[in-house]
Amino acid sequence: MTLSGKNILLGITGGIAAYKSAYLTRLLIKQGAIVKVVMTPTAKQFITPLTLATLSQNPILVDFFNSENGGWNSHVSLGLWADAMIIAPATANTIAKMSNGIADNLLTTSYLSARCPVFVAPAMDLDMFAHPATRRNIAALKNIGNIIIDADEGELASGLTGKGRMAEPEKIVAAVSDYFEQSNQLAGKTIMITAGPTYENIDPVRFIGNYSSGKMGFALAVAAANRGADVILISGPARLKINNSRIQRIDVTSAEQMYEACKSNFEKCDAAIMAAAVADYRPVNVSEQKIKKADNALTITLEATPDIAKLLGQQKSDRQLLIGFALETENGLANATEKLKKKNLDFIVLNSANELGAGFNTDTNRITILKKNGEKIDYQLKSKNEVANDIIDQMIVAANEIDK
Ligand code: PMT
Repeated sequence: MTLSGKNILLGITGGIAAYKSAYLTRLLIKQGAIVKVVMTPTAKQFITPLTLATLSQNPILVDFFNSENGGWNSHVSLGLWADAMIIAPATANTIAKMSNGIADNLLTTSYLSARCPVFVAPAMDLDMFAHPATRRNIAALKNIGNIIIDADEGELASGLTGKGRMAEPEKIVAAVSDYFEQSNQLAGKTIMITAGPTYENIDPVRFIGNYSSGKMGFALAVAAANRGADVILISGPARLKINNSRIQRIDVTSAEQMYEACKSNFEKCDAAIMAAAVADYRPVNVSEQKIKKADNALTITLEATPDIAKLLGQQKSDRQLLIGFALETENGLANATEKLKKKNLDFIVLNSANELGAGFNTDTNRITILKKNGEKIDYQLKSKNEVANDIIDQMIVAANEIDK
């Protein structure tokens, strides 16, 4: 029983595929899950609460208040109760509300209150599914880390044939089971991740920095924590927030501070992933006062910052993994291969600073992984959350190699 003891909040919205939710509920119960069902008012037109209450062994939740006895269903406690929320079927309407944070029924408010992983199984007619507005809304949910269980192709309720059928209940249960199986993969491991830019002061009001937002590093931190790791996230100045009990965030500003934080934490880590865009140079002298504008040119002498990845590469033990990034604008493969060797990395993640949708401050990235054994893996353009999972998968492959 792969879902033994897991609290599953099943959200059902108003689409014809709601009839499949009865079978989905049964499968979840058979896998040992404790299931509570929350329905939108329209979903009740497609399947009766009585059927679902009987199968889930729990009363069905539709309204905020019970007008008979004044009892109320708390979306907050439902959101906190759930180990996973599944929304199946998810109509175009509910997906649009979810992606915009609209909270106008118990299902959408529970969704906004849920701290657990959320699985979304879209179901609608083919043209609705293919519409750019729906594509955009689904992509937005994916970007914030919801797990989309893609719709299937086939005959639709309209009589048309195409993509939009809800995934079969077996596929939905398998996706949730796989998630929980993966969530223990890194249990007991500590992973250090660097993220964001560094700022190197010139004077009290100016610095040398770069365009890194921290999105890639933060996505890696969440992906590692979701697999059960304890994460030490060392971040340069990034505007992102993170709220995960498995992630300890250490904020730094300069390359020197990032180095100090990495140095004092690396020994206790099983792996480190260096996703930060660390300044390679800093001013030799930092002016105590704001530098005044003058008529002639200004020269600032720069010196190298500590190459953190290289220094950790010299310190790392045989049991530790060190993973670096290479952000390139030209000769990507050659430059990344050189960095892989020079910094004694187990693998390097190559991405481009001048490719659309990749590199700095985007929600997506396209990477190539180069391993120290010469293996090369090319990936498609994906959300940074998905890219982060690909990198963690390869980190686990590398860890298994060490254990052999
Ligand atoms: O933060 P985002 O907006 O999401 O953007 C993500 C990213 C583009 C910053 C990320 O995907 C990325 O490529 N990070 C590494 C950027 C970089 O500085 O690459 P590099 O090729 O200059 O450095 C090579 C490696 O050495 C990197 O792992 C880097 O963290 C590390 N390094 C570099 C210099 C230095 N002084 N110390 C280091 O540890």
